[in-house]
Amino acid sequence: MQRLAPALREDNVPLDLISLIKTILAATKEISFRVSQAHLGGLMGSTLDENIQGEVQKKLDVVANELIKDILLESGFVRAISSEEEEHSVVGDENGKFIVSFDPLDGSSNIDINSLIGTIFSIHEARDDVPAGDAAQFQQAGTKQVCAGYVLYGPSTMLVMTTGKGTHFYVLDRTHGGFLLVERNVQVPKTTQEFAVNMSNQRFWQPPMQRYIQDLLAGDTGPRGKNFNMRWIAAMVGDIHRVLTRGGIFTYPADNKDPKKPFKLRLMYEANPMSFLIEQAGGLAVTSQERIMDIEPDDIHQRVEVIMGSEEEVNTCLSYYQ
Ligand code: F6P
Ligand code: MN
Repeated sequence: MQRLAPALREDNVPLDLISLIKTILAATKEISFRVSQAHLGGLMGSTLDENIQGEVQKKLDVVANELIKDILLESGFVRAISSEEEEHSVVGDENGKFIVSFDPLDGSSNIDINSLIGTIFSIHEARDDVPAGDAAQFQQAGTKQVCAGYVLYGPSTMLVMTTGKGTHFYVLDRTHGGFLLVERNVQVPKTTQEFAVNMSNQRFWQPPMQRYIQDLLAGDTGPRGKNFNMRWIAAMVGDIHRVLTRGGIFTYPADNKDPKKPFKLRLMYEANPMSFLIEQAGGLAVTSQERIMDIEPDDIHQRVEVIMGSEEEVNTCLSYYQ
């Protein structure tokens, strides 16, 4: 099995980007260890703080954020970073070539139940026309990502990553401490009979999503003429990993539960990197209105509607909005 760096060189990934990726991965290896020892190390449960999203921070959220933030800021590779756990972007090295957006620990409600969680990251080139601390550094569409990925802290610690040349799976080999390539050019099957959505929000969705899911639930006696299965891990990393592995449609649709907050998932460190991975694997990633990666961001924490996965199923879902 091939090691990470040679696999990236084979894809002609520039050396400075490879160095940045290795830097992020060094932090995730440490997080993987801390996650596995959380109970023993007194890292279960919540802090007394809330993050900018108004969510209670778990102790592991804070630890993961500090580990990634510190290693990135010390590396010299990044001009600025933004994180789910930081209110504002943080300036790094003025000569850093890249900016990184990350969700240090996605799915944190799974921490206390020893279930799937992961780190999501998205890399853009830094803009030379604006200062490092300028908000415009991060106002770059998903199409401009040079790399995106996640590390899933599951039974195996897995890295799923793209640099725009396909989506590849790697597994952390603890015997030598590095990630090994286990599957090159993963492909999301075009069709599926599996969907992922938080059904408890059903009554708050817009009518087209209500009708679409209704027709999935109707199974082989309904308009779709086939039965569908449902899965919901409640960690985007876990659900998207399943979609990349065996297909499916994942959605967090708009809802009117709280009129001030119609969407849940964050564009810069959840929707965009996952969209890049899904599209590079032959899937689709959209809102009900547009391709996610075409959105011009205006805020590092902005939220967005998400519909992604198997191409034909995503198109079927979109047809309900026409
Ligand atoms: O980070 C947000 C997130 O935890 C995602 O990882 C996950 O897909 C979703 O929220 C879960 O939402 P809910 O709590 O509604 O099940
Ligand atoms: Mn998250």
